[in-house]
Amino acid sequence: MYTSDQMQIDIGRGSWIRRMFEEGLELKKIHGNDKVFDFTLGSPCVEPPPQFQAALVDVVNDPTPGMHTYMQNPGYPATRVAIARRLTAESGIEYTAENIIMTVGAAGASNVFLRSVLNPGDEVIVIAPFFPEYSFYIHNQRGTQVVSKATPECLPDLDDLRGRLTDRTRVLMLNSPCNPTGRMIPAPILKEIGEMLRRHSEKIGRPVFILSDEPYRNLLFDGLQYAAPADYYDDTIIVTSFSKSISLAGERIGYMAISPRCKGAAKVFEACAFNTRTLGFVNAPATMQRVMARIQDWESNVPVYQAKRDLMYNGLTEIGYKIPKPEGTFFMFPESPIADDPKFVMMLKDELVLVTPGTGFAAPGFFRISFACPDQVIQNSLPGFRRAFERAMAL
Ligand SMILES: Cc1ncc(COP(=O)(O)O)c(C=O)c1O
Repeated sequence: MYTSDQMQIDIGRGSWIRRMFEEGLELKKIHGNDKVFDFTLGSPCVEPPPQFQAALVDVVNDPTPGMHTYMQNPGYPATRVAIARRLTAESGIEYTAENIIMTVGAAGASNVFLRSVLNPGDEVIVIAPFFPEYSFYIHNQRGTQVVSKATPECLPDLDDLRGRLTDRTRVLMLNSPCNPTGRMIPAPILKEIGEMLRRHSEKIGRPVFILSDEPYRNLLFDGLQYAAPADYYDDTIIVTSFSKSISLAGERIGYMAISPRCKGAAKVFEACAFNTRTLGFVNAPATMQRVMARIQDWESNVPVYQAKRDLMYNGLTEIGYKIPKPEGTFFMFPESPIADDPKFVMMLKDELVLVTPGTGFAAPGFFRISFACPDQVIQNSLPGFRRAFERAMAL
């Protein structure tokens, strides 16, 4: 065998998102691009803000020598200062450059953090439905994944969560607003989670961390204020990126913010800086760090995504679909009209509508729509959604 036993299992399990996306490519070849309605990939559909282009040109034309050399593993101090300033203004928590490590996206940050705090076999709780890559990050870093289920409204189920805590619990991963549901965890739930984890950490004699995965934090609709896990629990580490907020997914630029209220912040910083190096990232991309230091006044294009959310949500609920209303992101997670979500996804595929089954997010009975696509695609897909719904109801 050329690859490890575990790789064969992981690759064999595959990804529903990828599978449906590839099915879409085949269908597009047969029917033409405009006849296939593809809601599979979670890729932003707006361009980065104009100040990004200007800052990039500025950086590229900067004649200062040494612009592209190695640097300190956590990243350029000027970038970390700029990020800390913005985060402090957004959150009211006093972050400094010593709390910020620049990373290769939120994905890189999650791997670095998990590597830094997990002993082999330590447990990491995820709340289903969750972004399926979490399982691989946890496994990469020698952890054991524990799944807690969400309520029917797609929010953490506090009783279920309490029942999952053990003396091996090390990390609770939260993702708010969430891929795949678009739901934001409201403050009262975060408060209860904070109290629960404080009690549990005391009981087991070591801190349980919250790993707060926040790449969609700035994509919130209807003027909603972000409820931040770090406000309710001191041992919170934010991982995030500019992949979704300003459409820089391919540039692989993100960061980790260790709460200054975390008593072990300096130790966690030291370990994460070390692992940034030893996991082979070494540092986040230099040019992008310089760009981000220059454009900390960016804003996400919320109105565009909110209008798409409304178009999709109103269209589908009018047909009869039940959907926990997304408060952010560019995803929604409707209930499948039949319990067998992969089967319903195939019924949609018959209508040339491509979505991802909830099973792929550890939440059978639902399916995920990524509505980051042209309005026309949403509009033209609705008759197909209707026909599939009616066929399912007639079963
Ligand atoms: C919930 C969630 N976390 C993390 C990531 C990884 O993002 P990044 O591009 O910042 O690594 C994604 C990307 O789709 C995501 O949806």
